[in-house]
Amino acid sequence: MRVAISRCLLGDNCRYNGKTKPNAAVIRSAKNVEVVPVCPESAGKLPIPRPAAEQRDGGVYMSDGTDVTRQFQAGACKEFDRVKKSGAPLAILKAKSPSCGSDLIYDGTYSGTLTAGDGVFTRLLKQEGITVATETMVEEMHPSVEHPVAIVLGTGLGSITDLVHVVRRIDYHDIEGFPDNAQPIEGHRFEAAIGALDGVPVIVYPGRIHLYRGYSAAEVTSLVRHAFRLGCRDIIFAGATGAIPGKVEKGLGILTDQINLTGRNPLAEWEGLRDVESPFVDMNDLYSPYMSSIARGVAKDQNITIGAGVFAGVLGPSFETRAEVSALRQLGVSYVGMSTVNEVIMAHALGMHVLGLTLAANYSGGCDVDHQSVLATAKRYEDDFQRWVRGIVHLL
Ligand code: HPA
Repeated sequence: MRVAISRCLLGDNCRYNGKTKPNAAVIRSAKNVEVVPVCPESAGKLPIPRPAAEQRDGGVYMSDGTDVTRQFQAGACKEFDRVKKSGAPLAILKAKSPSCGSDLIYDGTYSGTLTAGDGVFTRLLKQEGITVATETMVEEMHPSVEHPVAIVLGTGLGSITDLVHVVRRIDYHDIEGFPDNAQPIEGHRFEAAIGALDGVPVIVYPGRIHLYRGYSAAEVTSLVRHAFRLGCRDIIFAGATGAIPGKVEKGLGILTDQINLTGRNPLAEWEGLRDVESPFVDMNDLYSPYMSSIARGVAKDQNITIGAGVFAGVLGPSFETRAEVSALRQLGVSYVGMSTVNEVIMAHALGMHVLGLTLAANYSGGCDVDHQSVLATAKRYEDDFQRWVRGIVHLL
């Protein structure tokens, strides 16, 4: 997978003051990918060293008043062309800078104060659909023993647990909030596996419970709170869905956003959810663009065909009527399923980074859908799914 990375984060002395800002987490990530090194300011032929520059009134000015907007734009365009040609879906760029900053940049007062906005270069990348991450994000999301990756698996997808070097198993019934009477349906195991997947610390939950069995949204999301309390900050959900005909094909896919049609929300039961500060949580970037672009990159490298689209979570357990399939299509939905939406809301409210993977086992509204056929399809995709998840976890 190709990733554009700011040269200063890799150790080059290309910053305005002639210095560098090497970042250990970024340098470590760079070892696992094909790096496209970038520095829009050097490409714009700005002198090194020079006074600091910041964005103000739509332009870029040095602290001595010199207008360097033209150089910043020229450099950004040059580096943008290189990144675009390389096909990199992801860029890891120096935070806050007037060219590379994303979401937050210096405010033009040269006082270290930040304001909402993107750097000149970052704006071009985002317009092209290239995901931009900062070094802080890379640090925050890197798995460790203190912060393992949680992997929650749905129908037929649990076999990845067999690849985990397990150091400890936890019976779901010992997890706070998990219902005492819940028993796994076929294809599920109710035992979390703590250990390592190819050396990466993970906690795998190889099965889950569903609202359609009468459990509450708080009960359904108890595994997410458990993962959070054990230190997980990245969480991968994988579940079987139906593909909306005309939107996506059957097979593996990435969830890009969601519509919660279950009529439930774990945050509405928030009095008992002690880890959540407030139930009024914004739902932007619910699915982490950083993790999704890694998932896309790994799929491409490994020649695994994937789809992507909006997920609708329904209560079930009946499958969709023709009218419902048609309505979902008009709502812009690509995948529909009976799990995940409430768990994703819970994880996001806890500040976790979420990746949504799916196996569309059938076309929604098809006549041949039943639990056995979902399991049979999952078996067919087992090898691709395992390779995909291992590749993703390795790059986090
Ligand atoms: N609809 C809802 N959930 C599903 C489906 C479906 O067609 N297939 C697997 N889970």
